[in-house]
Amino acid sequence: MKHITIAIDGPAAAGKGTLSRRLAETYGFHHLDTGLTYRATAKALIDTGLPFDDEAVAERMALDVDLAGLDRSVLARHEIGEAASKIAVMPSVRRALVEAQRAFSKKMPGTVLDGRDIGTVVCPDAAVKLYVTASPEVRARRRYDEIVASGQAADYDAIVEDVKKRDDRDMNRADSPLRPADDAVLLDTSEMSIEAAFQAAKRIVDAALN
Ligand code: CDP
Ligand code: CDP
Repeated sequence: MKHITIAIDGPAAAGKGTLSRRLAETYGFHHLDTGLTYRATAKALIDTGLPFDDEAVAERMALDVDLAGLDRSVLARHEIGEAASKIAVMPSVRRALVEAQRAFSKKMPGTVLDGRDIGTVVCPDAAVKLYVTASPEVRARRRYDEIVASGQAADYDAIVEDVKKRDDRDMNRADSPLRPADDAVLLDTSEMSIEAAFQAAKRIVDAALN
């Protein structure tokens, strides 16, 4: 049987994780949320209490990340996401994490990886590449709803600013900036329900697999 990788990229809160999990379930593939590898590195660095600008220490944390032990509930904190996007500009951190992600991507019978640079850097030969996006306002609304649903207070305007700041950092870094691969299919979910986005993605994957 032919091995298949589905690469899902896009900005924060575009719906990559939700879509990737469902695609992985549907096709019986392994799923890796690569954002968690950056978050786990950032959390390990925060826990050491050492300064953030020491790339050698950050690289050591990246080399120690255990893909089997990643847990979004432990890594969900806002400060960890912010810190993750700061250490994600460091080339040696990216090199360490990309190597682990590539090894994961080869699992049989197939894999779904989501992140920022899967179609461009981690798995340039992926059979299917989706670039999932939505307007910053829609993405901020999704984040806001998540926070409120968890019983916490949230400030929508502050979240819009955060989303834009994170986009700016992810799209304008020198190493592996967020951008659609030349052969990626664009999926703008601004006006789509989760179900509609899944059906659209499934049609694209089915067409590529047949
Ligand atoms: O969940 P959210 O979309 O907020 O972010 P995430 O996917 O958990 O990723 C956190 C940060 O890690 C992002 O803002 C990126 O800076 C970085 N990241 C990356 O550089 N490359 C990836 N393949 C995945 C995440
Ligand atoms: O992984 P990423 O940060 O790109 O996004 P996510 O965690 O999959 O989705 C962020 C939030 O948006 C979740 O609460 C989803 O339920 C919601 N969502 C949505 O409302 N409509 C969509 N079409 C996709 C996601």
